[in-house]
Amino acid sequence: MTELSVEKLTKNYSLLHQEISALIEGENNMFANIGNILAAIKFRMNWFWVGLYKVDQDELVLFMFQGPHACTRIKKGKGVCGTAWEENRTIIVEDVEKFDGHIACNSNSKSEIVIPIKDISGTISYVLDIDSAELNTFTELDAKELNKIKAVIETLI
Ligand code: SME
Repeated sequence: MTELSVEKLTKNYSLLHQEISALIEGENNMFANIGNILAAIKFRMNWFWVGLYKVDQDELVLFMFQGPHACTRIKKGKGVCGTAWEENRTIIVEDVEKFDGHIACNSNSKSEIVIPIKDISGTISYVLDIDSAELNTFTELDAKELNKIKAVIETLI
């Protein structure tokens, strides 16, 4: 990334963090807040798909999202989402075709980032999945900034 694009992205994240704080301030309904957070990410960053999958026994099940319809269930250890859950780590995929076992819910998705989300007991209970229609969208900068939003979501679930 050029210095200019890092600066632009950092500025955009700063606006996104402000938007999210304003949107959830004074509201304690989880669905309203998560819906608004996902919408803010999707439309501020102009990504293809932004959503949460929720842990349901040995699977992830589609929870709230912004974007086209998506795969409903993903087994633990499968795809990028199931792998991020199993390995308890943020995964950045620069090119989905190069990720062994990637689950293609939509052929327009070219790169993605998945971040596990923990409940109050420290157990992973959701994953945040963000897909881009461009290759090589996400870097460590996105991981760092999106992990701040993950921390906000962890206070809501
Ligand atoms: N690509 C994901 C599946 C979810 S969709 O992208 C919304 C995966 O491989 O886990």
